Amino acid sequence: MFGHLVTRHRRRLSLTQQELAEITGLSERSIRRLESGDVQAPRPASVRLLADAFELSGSDRDTFIGAAGALDQATDASTGLEPPPRAERTLPADVAGFVGRHRELRDLLDAVRAPSAQALPTSPIYAIDGMAGVGKTAFAVHLAHRLAGRFPDGQRFVELRAHAPGRPVVDPATALATLLQADGVAAAAIPTGLDALAGLWRERLAGRRMLLLLDDAADPDHVAPLLPGTPGCLVLITSRRRLVTLPGVALLSLDTLPPEDAARLFVHRAGRRAGGDPAAIARITELCSHLPLAIALTAARLHLHPAWSVTDLADDLSEARD
Ligand SMILES: Nc1ncnc2c1ncn2[C@@H]1O[C@H](COP(=O)(O)OP(=O)(O)O)[C@@H](O)[C@H]1O
Ligand SMILES: [Mg+2]
Repeated sequence: MFGHLVTRHRRRLSLTQQELAEITGLSERSIRRLESGDVQAPRPASVRLLADAFELSGSDRDTFIGAAGALDQATDASTGLEPPPRAERTLPADVAGFVGRHRELRDLLDAVRAPSAQALPTSPIYAIDGMAGVGKTAFAVHLAHRLAGRFPDGQRFVELRAHAPGRPVVDPATALATLLQADGVAAAAIPTGLDALAGLWRERLAGRRMLLLLDDAADPDHVAPLLPGTPGCLVLITSRRRLVTLPGVALLSLDTLPPEDAARLFVHRAGRRAGGDPAAIARITELCSHLPLAIALTAARLHLHPAWSVTDLADDLSEARD
């Protein structure tokens, strides 16, 4: 039972009910009623405050919040109402064999984790720009996975697709409707009109700690309606353009990879086929201008030509260039 779990964690930290009330800002009476099982469906915000007070993170936190959620659902089931499902963590898988970008990662991790960042009156926004195929999405997804634990209310990946060949751009209203639905808003309760959508989204985000990754934005107008109005969240944006006019944004430009990282990326993608000729690999990555997308595509060609060595591949590329 959730109440027992609260009692156990409180005792683990040798806190009285009164002390726990002071730490969480909940009333002593609420805590008493929660522990005794009188309260059947604690508010999610209260559950989060308790999880914070108990300093729970990772799977312990999930278990704790899950135990409260199970109560919630049991209550809903008794009234015959299905709670709409939520899609809390929609980040794509981290890039296998992510290489390099150490300085950029460290700078952003430090900035997000800095105590001064926690005290900001607004949610920080980082926009990552760079040319097509330079690795903006890979970088942002990798970073988001590193930071996910700090955002217990979920991580949302939003494809805006400003430059997805053959696939339509996702306009802000469509993106907001998708976000609201993923957040558990019933389809019938989703408003029409950009302002109403953006307002409801900000309302849903208030008081929560969520990481938003807005991928492949065309310009500042493409993302502005999706931004939180309250502190506590983190927004990562990728775009080919530098979104200089977005208020409060911090910009990070990604360049092509240094030669050693470019070679590492090639070796990872080529797998066993990469052996033997480091000079050929250097030639290949050079011919790819050290651009991750070009390197990934070129390594994939090795798998199309089972008889080729990396030397053959390098020769073929040089010929094609000439
Ligand atoms: N640092 C990296 N380590 C490993 N793979 C990478 C890295 N950067 C990019 N890639 C790979 O290169 C390709 C292009 O990267 P992507 O992030 O899609 O580029 P962008 O979003 O800038 O157009 C993808 O296959 C991606 O997985
Ligand atoms: Mg991308």
